[in-house]
Amino acid sequence: MKGGFCTLKRKSQTLSLFSSEQLPPAPEKPSSKKKAQSVVRKLKTKKKKKAAPAPKAKMADAPVALPGRFPQTRYRGSKLRLLDWIVATLAPFWTESVLDAFGGTGAVSYRFKQEGKAVTYNDLLPCNFQFGRALIENTQVQLSDKELTDWLLPTEGKTYPTWIKDTFADIYFTDEENAWLDRVVTDLNDFTCDYKKAIAFFALAQACISKRPFNLFHRKNLYLRTSAVERTFGNKSTWDRPFPDAVRRFVDEANQAIFSGAKSCVAVQHDAAEVPGSFDLVYADPPYISKKGTSTDYADLYHFLNGICDYDAWPKQLDHKSKHRRLLRQASPWTDKQKISDAFDTLFGAYPGSVLAVSYRSDGIPSIDELSALMKRHRAHVEVHPYGAYQYALSTNKSSEEVLLVGYDK
Ligand SMILES: C[S@@+](CC[C@H](N)C(=O)[O-])C[C@H]1O[C@@H](n2cnc3c(N)ncnc32)[C@H](O)[C@@H]1O
Repeated sequence: MKGGFCTLKRKSQTLSLFSSEQLPPAPEKPSSKKKAQSVVRKLKTKKKKKAAPAPKAKMADAPVALPGRFPQTRYRGSKLRLLDWIVATLAPFWTESVLDAFGGTGAVSYRFKQEGKAVTYNDLLPCNFQFGRALIENTQVQLSDKELTDWLLPTEGKTYPTWIKDTFADIYFTDEENAWLDRVVTDLNDFTCDYKKAIAFFALAQACISKRPFNLFHRKNLYLRTSAVERTFGNKSTWDRPFPDAVRRFVDEANQAIFSGAKSCVAVQHDAAEVPGSFDLVYADPPYISKKGTSTDYADLYHFLNGICDYDAWPKQLDHKSKHRRLLRQASPWTDKQKISDAFDTLFGAYPGSVLAVSYRSDGIPSIDELSALMKRHRAHVEVHPYGAYQYALSTNKSSEEVLLVGYDK
């Protein structure tokens, strides 16, 4: 047995200002489908664009010292850089309990937890639920160096399966890395403490994301990493960083992020409109559909991590017809431009009495006017707060702005 029970290791709480060190790294730019050489050539000649400047916080007050430090992430759509503005905008509605209905990385929940709220982190994807469990619900359990080392070492005499190595050859990682993944994913089950397992999973998932071109699992494009060409772009060293080193770094980041909030917080995994309980505030940051109708299917972009979450069931869930071996697709109204308005309507009707807050883009489907009208069907007052141009990590869209809608009755 490698993983221990949830022995509680109390860490002295660090007070840190929300600072630029917490900003996510500069995005890797997506490209279209091309042969290895032409893509690499394009990357070689492309002038490095300056990362979008961090938006200025619009808070009048000086930054407040907050406990913990949220780990770096390259997850798509993270609100990490907008947290000060979101918190300042919601301050007049600030009460005790908050549901973060589309939790993603947990960045927003984490900030709510830092603000002393009773947070319910929710996300439908199994991989994200584990992030919420590790960083939001967990108050003090850390993964020790010994536990980490034990997990990463093979168990003597144990025969490991070869599912990832056999199924994902030449798709995302090298053969050697795939075999390593088969082993450490199998040994995740040795953790008897859910929080330790969640921290280990969090670190493994972040390591996988960091080693992927574009930080996604949307294409078979290992060749971008392995092509023997002279390179002038900088991500190769991150892609080639050995898995154990990357995992160690993310375990460190997770360990130092863990703190006990003023109120108890939980992580759950439901459809956003079906989270049990009642909440003073429901914050929703759903997947966004652009006005061209392009949606973001998170289950598709991160299917490999969801496979890892349920290793034994992975073969049954695999779409064998897809070149990049994604999981079988499940229909979602949040990725369907014909159904997304109804999904918002259902969501707004699901939490009577709660203040509703929705993050969306000004050029999306539905439009902000439509969204506002939808919210007015459920709440007496609706406020629309535009942020100003803000560009997401990994996005090339510079023409839309971030908007926060708030609906309330009194
Ligand atoms: C824009 S991201 C949220 C990002 C998050 N605010 C952050 O800062 O990391 C949208 C999230 O919604 C989740 N999601 C998609 N459909 C969902 C559903 N029906 N119910 C709950 N979560 C869902 C996705 O897994 C994704 O993590």
